[in-house]
Formats: sequence, C-alpha cells, structure tokens
Amino acid sequence: MTDEHSKLPANRLWQPTTAKWFAVVFGASLAYAIVRYHFAGNVFWRHFPLFILNKATSLAAVIFVACSYLIGKIIHWHDDDRALRLVVIKFCGLMGFFLAAVHAFFSLALLSPAYYAKYFDDGGRFNLQGELALAVGVIALFFLLSPAVTTLPMMPKALGGWRWKRSQRTGYVALVLVVVHLVVFGWKGWLAPQGWHGGLPPISLVAVLVALVPLLIKRKLVRDKEKARSSQ
Ligand code: HEM
Repeated sequence: MTDEHSKLPANRLWQPTTAKWFAVVFGASLAYAIVRYHFAGNVFWRHFPLFILNKATSLAAVIFVACSYLIGKIIHWHDDDRALRLVVIKFCGLMGFFLAAVHAFFSLALLSPAYYAKYFDDGGRFNLQGELALAVGVIALFFLLSPAVTTLPMMPKALGGWRWKRSQRTGYVALVLVVVHLVVFGWKGWLAPQGWHGGLPPISLVAVLVALVPLLIKRKLVRDKEKARSSQ
C-alpha cells in the first residue's frame, strides 16, 4: 500500500492526517497549560521546559488514549476511509502511551517538595496522597503498555483474535487507574474553584473528564449489548 505520488506506505503512522491530530491535541494542551499557569497564574517562564511541558504532555496523553477508543464510536471523521481510520486509532493509542511515558520521566525528574510540597510530609517523604497517586500512575502506565505492544504488526496473528482484543481493552483499565491517579492528586483543588487561576479548571480535572468519556461510552455499549442479548 503506497501513496499515489510517493513511495511511502499509506498506512505509515506519521502522515499529514496524524500530524494534524498531533498539532491540534498537543497544541491545545500546551496552549491551555501556558494560559492557565503562565498568563493567568504566577508560574515563572523558567519553569516552562519541564514543569509546564509536563502538564501539557500529561493532558495530551489522556486525550490521545481517550480518542483512540472514541474514533469510530463518537468521532466519525474518518468513517469513509477504513484504512486511514485504523492508522489514526493506532497513532492515537501509541502517541498516548509515548506521552504518558514522557510524563512519567518528567514527573520523576521534578518530584521534590519544592515542586509538589502537598504530596510530602515534614520529614521529606511522600504522604499517603503522594504514595497512592504515584503507585496508581505507575500501574496505569504498565496497563497502557499492553495495548501499545500488541499494535505491532505481528501481534494479532501471534496472539489470536480474542486474546489480541482483550489486550487492546486493557487500555480501559489504564483509563480507570488514570482517573484514580487524578482524583487522588487533584480532588482538593477541584473543590476550591475560587483558587483556580483565571477561573480555568485544573488540568487534572479537565483530564479526568476526558478520561471518563470513553469509559462511560464503553459501559453504555456493554449494557446495550447485554439488553439486546437478554431480549432475544
Ligand atoms: C510512572 C507513572 C506516573 C508518574 C510518576 C506520574 C506522576 C505525576 C505527578 C507527579 C503529577 C503532578 C500532580 C500535580 O501537579 O499536582 C501527575 C499529574 C498528572 N498525571 Fe501522572 N504520573 C504517572 C502516570 C500517568 C499516566 C499513565 C497518565 C495518563 C495517561 C497520567 C496523567 C496525568 C495527568 C493528566 C496529570 C495532571 C497534570 C496536572 O494537573 O498537573 N499520569 N502525574
């Protein structure tokens, strides 16, 4: 399968359509982080390269993972081209995993009481909130690894249809864990809107709402299927 005017394979992951996806999702996440923390908040620009980029990266990761489960369900932009739709789904899933891994490395580099005082106790160790949220975040990343690895071309054949589908569905488990990661980290800030910079909701709250969309849609689809089965 090649593009008409080039020798590049049409099912390559990086192509004009997926580049547009990246520009929109990462660009919007970055713009939100800059506006909320630099313009509306009081974070110095010297913290842009790691602290602010980490916020944008983590939000984009959640959006990409969510989109990989929503394309074809509620996002119908690529319905007329099945091959392109599969490429975009794969791109979103892999990009979500890649950005989540970058976020994990950025966070581990930043993790200190100076950046995240509220997750440490007076002795400089993590408090319960910090330990719990981080443990769940690490496990979530591992659950994202399974659908990412099984997108490799040889995997559907190696695993067989049912096991391959099951491995793809572990992304839903990862999303549930991401919701827990974010609730434990963020819930106190969500309940104090008077402290939101420029009235803009925290990134953790935006991300949790995004993560809930595919989870709720999946639940609805499963219920509809069960209903249809029981009425037969
Ligand atoms: C090794 C794994 C992980 C580590 C060490 C980690 C660490 C962190 C840390 C330190 C924060 C900052 C909390 C704050 O700003 O108060 C955070 C927030 C966040 N994490 Fe993770 N995380 C991990 C995995 C994940 C995964 C797998 C995802 C999603 C795919 C994710 C998405 C987010 C999001 C969206 C935020 C909110 C950003 C914000 O409000 O600043 N994290 N994480």
